[in-house]
Amino acid sequence: KDFAGRTAFVTGGANGIGLGLARALLDEGCKVAIADIREDSLEAALKTLDNRNVMGVKLDVASREGYARTADEVEEQMGPVSLLFNNAGINLFQTIDESTYDDWDWVLGVNLHGVINGIQTFVPRMKERGLGGHIVNTASMASFLCGPAPGIYNCSKFAVRGMSESLRYSLAPQGIGVSVLCPGLVKSYIYASDSVRPENLANRGTPENQAFTDQLANVHQYGMEPDEVAAKVLDAIRANRFYIFSHPEFKEELQEVFDEIIAAFPPMGDLDDNAKQRLEFEKG
Ligand code: NAI
Repeated sequence: KDFAGRTAFVTGGANGIGLGLARALLDEGCKVAIADIREDSLEAALKTLDNRNVMGVKLDVASREGYARTADEVEEQMGPVSLLFNNAGINLFQTIDESTYDDWDWVLGVNLHGVINGIQTFVPRMKERGLGGHIVNTASMASFLCGPAPGIYNCSKFAVRGMSESLRYSLAPQGIGVSVLCPGLVKSYIYASDSVRPENLANRGTPENQAFTDQLANVHQYGMEPDEVAAKVLDAIRANRFYIFSHPEFKEELQEVFDEIIAAFPPMGDLDDNAKQRLEFEKG
């Protein structure tokens, strides 16, 4: 795919992976809108990017109305968006059994509904224009691998992966590619997600564990550079590749998960006539 001259919309574009993506896209000659809930970060990002082809817009991706309004504003100023990066996300380290409705609403509101809003807003526009394009949804290795603590996060990222895969098949005939980005640890500010939690969803199941947050901040210094992740994303778009695994070290763990799944299947030799009919239908 050719990047030059295209307009890209990057959510959560003021920090971390999103900012890396914005930088890489600008280098390729794209016009880039970075949409983020944090005005201070937007201001700082625009300063570091220092490019006349970028605009910053304040957006809470969880807001349907806000999303559509922002899309109109961006397209009016920068032309039709044909590269969409549903990347904004937050994390909450807490088990599901200790979570409140506010915890669910916040994490799913941003990580899942934020992506849904991106798709609901931009896909009809992309289809109508018939110019093709590409959508990258940022999931995580947590869309495959679960732990006890990021329970709702796991749930949101599994959903993003599933949604992306279904969308991949439905949009292929329109020439719109879809990829799912599944990174491991990346240098970013996601450990400080609590700072963007809205007041109307403040009821946390467990108080923030400051010692753990400090530890996370510390470990993030060993994260992959966002620019390295972004380069891998652009390569994947060029090749129209669905899965984007940036971190090679997860391969064995993923293999163990799939081995467990395959080992849990009854043997194929047990197929009776009904099962054979079902198989024919399911394959068709
Ligand atoms: P980050 O915190 O550095 O950047 C995320 C950006 O999203 C921030 O600028 C933040 O202000 C913005 N944001 C948060 N809530 C928002 C909302 N409601 N509306 C609009 N913008 C909002 O974090 P990072 O790591 O760059 O996160 C980007 C994506 O990467 C997320 O979806 C995250 O789940 C995913 N990811 C990150 C990993 C990591 O180790 N950093 C690993 C795997 C996935």
